[in-house]
Amino acid sequence: MLKRRQLLVGGVTVAGAGGAAWLYYRSRASQALGGGPFRHYPFDPVAAENFQQKLFIPVASGPFGVLDVAAPLKIRATAASFPLLPGPASQAPSPFLLYQTEHAGQAYQNPILRIESGARFTASLDNELTEPTIIHWHGLHTPAKMDGHPSDTIGPGARYDYDFTVRNRGGTYWYHTHAHELTAKQAYNGLASFFLVDDEDQRKLAKALDLKLGVTDLPLVIQDKQFDAQGKLVYRPNMHESMMGWLGDIVLANLTPNAVHAVTPRTYRLRLLNGSNARIYRLAFVKGDSGGPSLPFTVIGTDGGLIERPETVTEAFLAPGERLDVLFDAAQAQPGDTVFLKSLAFDPMENEGAAGASGGMAGMSSQNHQGMGQMMAGTSTSRLPLGAAFNVLKLSVTAGDRAATTLPTVLSEIKPIRTEGAPERKIELSMQAMRFLINGLTFRMDEIAFEVKRGAVEIWSISNPTVGMPHPMHIHGFSFQVLERLNSPPQWSATARFGKGRAVSDLGWKDTVLVWPGETVRIAIDFAHDFPGSQTYVFHCHNLEHEDAGMMINFRVQA
Ligand code: C2O
Ligand code: CU
Ligand code: CU
Repeated sequence: MLKRRQLLVGGVTVAGAGGAAWLYYRSRASQALGGGPFRHYPFDPVAAENFQQKLFIPVASGPFGVLDVAAPLKIRATAASFPLLPGPASQAPSPFLLYQTEHAGQAYQNPILRIESGARFTASLDNELTEPTIIHWHGLHTPAKMDGHPSDTIGPGARYDYDFTVRNRGGTYWYHTHAHELTAKQAYNGLASFFLVDDEDQRKLAKALDLKLGVTDLPLVIQDKQFDAQGKLVYRPNMHESMMGWLGDIVLANLTPNAVHAVTPRTYRLRLLNGSNARIYRLAFVKGDSGGPSLPFTVIGTDGGLIERPETVTEAFLAPGERLDVLFDAAQAQPGDTVFLKSLAFDPMENEGAAGASGGMAGMSSQNHQGMGQMMAGTSTSRLPLGAAFNVLKLSVTAGDRAATTLPTVLSEIKPIRTEGAPERKIELSMQAMRFLINGLTFRMDEIAFEVKRGAVEIWSISNPTVGMPHPMHIHGFSFQVLERLNSPPQWSATARFGKGRAVSDLGWKDTVLVWPGETVRIAIDFAHDFPGSQTYVFHCHNLEHEDAGMMINFRVQA
C-alpha cells in the first residue's frame, strides 16, 4: 500500500496506456518561443496557425478511456504526472491529479464512464491524495449520501462507497471532485471526467446518424489553464482571482492545447462540456483561418439529455458545468478547408454597473462599495480576459464519402413540469465584503437554507443584481426546466428565440443555468424522489472559486 502510494506520488506516468499520441507530443521547437503575450509557449489560442496538436480522442482504455461499467469499480484519487504540453517547455510532465481504476483487465485514468439508464452503479473511492476529497456525480439524481456532498469529504487514506441506481435519462453527465473548499484546485488539477448514460433515445439517434463513440461521437471537454515556463500547471489565485474566478490562458480541448482534428464531409456529434473553473464560452463554428462566417450547427441535447427537436443555431453560450450536445455537418466545407470551433468575443459583464462611475455604486452599502473597490483593484494573471475571442479546436476537412443519414425530426419527449399552483421561491444572489452570497448566506456545513416538500414542484426565481458578474447556478440531486428569463443582456436576447427569453441552452432538462448581471431566471423543479428519509443537497455557483468561497447553500427535501 505504502509502496504503491510512493510510486504514485513519485510520478506514475500514465504510460502503457495505449494512445501514444496523447502521451508524446511532437516538439514544436521551431515555433517562436520569445515575444508576444504567450511568450513561454507556442500555444497562443488566438493564432490560427498554431493549431497543430492532434486532438486527443478517447479510446478503449488508458487516459480518458471509455469504460463500459459492468462491475463494481475501485476508483483511486491519485497524484500523478501528466504531459499536458508538448514541446521543449515540458520535457518533464506536469503534476496532475487522476482518478485511476482497473476494469476487465484494463487500466484507466479519468475514465469516461458509460452506463445504461436504470443500471446499478457501484464504486469505491480510495483517497490516495495527501488532502481530503470526494466524488460528485454532476447531474445525477441520487440519494444525498451518494451525491458527494461536501460533508462527505474523506481524508487521505480513507474510502467512500457509492451504490446507486442510475435514474437519469440518457445524456452527457460528468463527475468531479467536490472536496470541501478544495473543489476548484482539485478539479483544475485533473479530477474530472464524463459520465455518459445510454438509453433507447440515444441509441435511436446514434443509429439514424451512424454515430460511433470515439469516432464520430466525440466527448469534448473545454478548459482553460495556466502553465509556467516548464510546462507545469499553475493554480495560484490572487485575491482578485479567488473573488472573480481563475482564468487560464491556454485553452485545451480534451486536454490538448491548440488542437486539430481531421474530419470527413459528414455529421459529427460533439458532446461539449465546459469543465473550466470560471470561463464562459460563446461557441461558434467559423470557416477559415481568419474569421469567416459562422456556420450553422444543430443542438440536440443539453445538460440532462436530448431535447425534443433538433435546433439549428450559429452560436451558444456555455457556462462552467453546462453541457451542450451538438451536431456539426462538416460537409458544409470542402476538403482542404478548415473550420474553427471558437469562442466569440462577448461582454463579460464583470463589475457591471460599477465601472468608473460613482452612479453605478448608488444604492450599495458602504461595505459593498469597499468590497467592489478592492475587487477592482486586483487583476487577473490570465493573458486571456473573460470575453476575449480565441480558438478552441481546428477541424480540418479531408476528402471522404458523404454518409447519407437523416436526422430524426423528433429526438425525445420532454414532459413540461406542471407548475400550476406551484409556490415561487426567491433566490437572490448578492455580494458583500468580497464574497458572493445566495439569499444573504455564505455556506455553512450544518445550516439548511430552506426545506422543500418531497414531491413538491417549486418555481425558483433566481435573480442576479446589476452590480456583479455572471453566475452559473447549479443544483444537486434534481434536474430542472428553464421557464423564463427576464431582463437579459442584449448579447443573450439576440439569440433568445425559444420563447420567454430563452436561448437554445435553456431547452430540455438542465442542472446548471447561467444568470447574467441584472437578470432573473425562473426555473421549475420537481422534488419527487423515492429515497428513504430526508435528503440534503447543495445549490451553488459552478464558478468553482465562488463555490469554494461559499457561494453555496444546503437545502433539505423533507422525508
Ligand atoms: Cu459540478 Cu456541485 O457540482
Ligand atoms: Cu453537481
Ligand atoms: Cu458565481
